[in-house]
Amino acid sequence: IPVEPFDLIIFGGTGDLAKRKILPGLYRRLAAGQMPDGARVIGAARGEMDASGYRDMVREALETFVPEEDRDADSIDTFLALLDYVPIDAKGEAGWPELAALVRKDVVQAYYFSVGPSLFGDLAARLHKHEIAGPQARIVVEKPFGHDLESAKALNASLAEHFNEDQIYRIDHYLGKETVQNLMAVRFGNMLFEPLWNAQYIDHIQITVAETVGVGGRGAYYDKSGAMRDMVQNHLMQLLCLIAMEPPSRFDPDAVRDEKLKVIRALDPVLPHHIVRGQYDALGEEPSYREDAGDPKSRTESYVAMKVHISNWRWANTPFYLRTGKRLKARASEIAVVFKETPHSIFDNEAGSNRNVLSIRLQPNEGMNLDVTIKEPGPGGMRLVTVPLDMTFADALGPDVEEVPDAYERLIMDVIRGNQTLFMRGDEVEAAWAWTDPLIEGWQQRGEVPKTYDAGSAGPEDAMMLMHRDHRRWREIK
Ligand code: BG6
Repeated sequence: IPVEPFDLIIFGGTGDLAKRKILPGLYRRLAAGQMPDGARVIGAARGEMDASGYRDMVREALETFVPEEDRDADSIDTFLALLDYVPIDAKGEAGWPELAALVRKDVVQAYYFSVGPSLFGDLAARLHKHEIAGPQARIVVEKPFGHDLESAKALNASLAEHFNEDQIYRIDHYLGKETVQNLMAVRFGNMLFEPLWNAQYIDHIQITVAETVGVGGRGAYYDKSGAMRDMVQNHLMQLLCLIAMEPPSRFDPDAVRDEKLKVIRALDPVLPHHIVRGQYDALGEEPSYREDAGDPKSRTESYVAMKVHISNWRWANTPFYLRTGKRLKARASEIAVVFKETPHSIFDNEAGSNRNVLSIRLQPNEGMNLDVTIKEPGPGGMRLVTVPLDMTFADALGPDVEEVPDAYERLIMDVIRGNQTLFMRGDEVEAAWAWTDPLIEGWQQRGEVPKTYDAGSAGPEDAMMLMHRDHRRWREIK
């Protein structure tokens, strides 16, 4: 279904994110027939160039970042015809009158701040000063949304000077992933799971976001950030919220975000011995974290594992184990809900534990698996065995279903539609920082050095111990 006509203005329109994600995402929506007549995309950046130079740049970006089988010459030409470009100075006055003359006030205006957070306030102020923002103006901001609670509050305040909360779309691209949205569908669209979704039936929950990439190329940014700020404060926190929140009364932005906020506010402070930080070592020709970061003494973590408790009735004493890291053995993200054992066994020769585990594979190979205990076939008596009930979404949904869209495609279209459900509210971001800040400060005060782990491994040994001490095991990363 096409959306309303709109003007999308990309500040940082020549940058990496625009080339890799935003413009290819928009192109795909056009190719899928979702772009209305009268949609326009205006790049705005420091570089001097005209509209035709910008179109050439975007054509090259599409050829680089959209796979050949998804490209179609006619659609590309139609897409390029929507583009315009304005050279602009975010901190000065140059280019703003030209932008004002170009954008339309009577359509949805989406201002995408694809720039560093230090420019958010400048951009918001100039949109206001030059009277560019119309009644349907929305702004889209990317992570990192601040560096800590104080900076996040300052950013929220600088945006709030000129825009209302319902005009601000804070992106966490994990919320745009199909499988992440599916967490809500599985929990709240089925009768089967929700009655068991609590401390009485669930032993613990594991959330894993494992990556094989290192930080090469982004070392300068990453070294000031680390896995805690780069992944846990936002992406893992969002996953935790979706898996732990109470059912919202409706699938609408504030109902959902109110429930997520309650989860973050109910998080206990994490004890120092419940967190393990790691840093990857060199592997053959591949550099170590410290080489990638360009600092031989860096104490920034490229891996973090932790045990987290949510203090409320539903989750009392049910640990959530979170881990994420770079240069691990596989790219695999999943949430595993490990149920308790049956309270009493009626079978004599039950071998080991027969736990039900519901695992939701977020990426790759999106799907769900439920480990179920059954009788081992054969005449040898009542022997139990655990088997997987496996569902790969692509197989189950069949070939007619539209290919899984990239997170950005979904999120940009939601901005145009004015749907904030999959975007973070200001108070949510602040609450997440309020929880992570003391953990990071604690490491700094104690001068903690992360443990090294072998690149291509499952992470530091101490992270395994975190589980073993509780007589539990991480699921294999594969
Ligand atoms: C980004 C982080 O937000 O998410 C990166 O800054 C990380 O460090 C990336 O690699 C992971 O995203 P995805 O979609 O590849 O899981």
